[in-house]
Amino acid sequence: MAPLIPEHEANRLACSEVVDAHYNHPAYEVAEFLAGASTLKAEELNALGDVRGRTLLHLMCHFGLDTLSWAREGAIVTGVDISDRAIERADELAHCTGLAARFVRSDVLALPEVLDEQFEIVFQSLR
Ligand SMILES: C[S@@+](CC[C@H](N)C(=O)[O-])C[C@H]1O[C@@H](n2cnc3c(N)ncnc32)[C@H](O)[C@@H]1O
Repeated sequence: MAPLIPEHEANRLACSEVVDAHYNHPAYEVAEFLAGASTLKAEELNALGDVRGRTLLHLMCHFGLDTLSWAREGAIVTGVDISDRAIERADELAHCTGLAARFVRSDVLALPEVLDEQFEIVFQSLR
């Protein structure tokens, strides 16, 4: 996939370089997530309310902790990130937890060319 904006290629490479460091950093709480915890903040949970059965698109999902946490809440989730490594890690986490999720590697600006569906919720967070 070629980014629509050439400058995003540098972002893609830089973002991929930090994925494993983030994954292994305690601040990301991967171990807690794997043990069943949600990475979502109370404000985010309160803002979206009951997501059970609702389609949710998570933009810039990194390695999918929040995406998969929404899946734990019952949402039908798709996560998008420009980084190959982030999507690899997200797929690993989905596999490890058995949570249903679709992860797509794409520049968010290319999404209209990649996904031709609509979503009930579009989400972006800090993680
Ligand atoms: C700090 S992390 C996650 C923050 C993000 N706001 C969220 O919703 O979780 C930033 C992520 O955005 C991704 N990213 C940066 N530019 C992007 C773009 N143009 N399209 C898709 N993903 C992008 C990076 O690969 C990285 O995984």
